[in-house]
Amino acid sequence: AASSIPADRVPDMEKRKLMNLLLLGAISLPTVGMVVPYGAFFVPAGSGGAGSGTYAKDKLGNDITVNEWLKTHGPNDRTLAQGLKGDPTYLVVEQDKTLATYGINAVCTHLGCVVPWNGAENKFICPCHGSQYNNQGKVVRGPAPLSLALVHVDVDDDKVLFVPWVETDFRTGEDPWWK
Ligand code: FES
Repeated sequence: AASSIPADRVPDMEKRKLMNLLLLGAISLPTVGMVVPYGAFFVPAGSGGAGSGTYAKDKLGNDITVNEWLKTHGPNDRTLAQGLKGDPTYLVVEQDKTLATYGINAVCTHLGCVVPWNGAENKFICPCHGSQYNNQGKVVRGPAPLSLALVHVDVDDDKVLFVPWVETDFRTGEDPWWK
């Protein structure tokens, strides 16, 4: 497997699969095409529980699969995908060519510009007022007051799934400001 799910997230994933099965069994065939949006109403918004994830989409709006993504994105790559609530979110490929279990919300914490990745500098550098973030999105230069928001990157049957990050920010050891 190209990416691993931290052990503490496995129960959520199992629950989600079960919910998928229950839901699919309970609804009639013509509605199967609506599988993707159900997560949005199955669990109250913002609960952060199982089922609150969103499948990552590429720029054409297609679901991203780990297998395909890693064929075209090498070590240290950071490329935007469509994330939770439509926020542009970076998928991170680690040095060992696996997909990171976190994604980085690209919206600058200063005034909201989308921050591009600069591979040569190994940083995210905001074109609007020059804020800089390290390769994990931790702020290293203002005026941005805060680091870029994190999301969990889970894998569901090879599809990349974004799940809200409500735990401690591993970069700062603090509670997430974006909760
Ligand atoms: Fe990014 Fe101002 S919006 S530095």
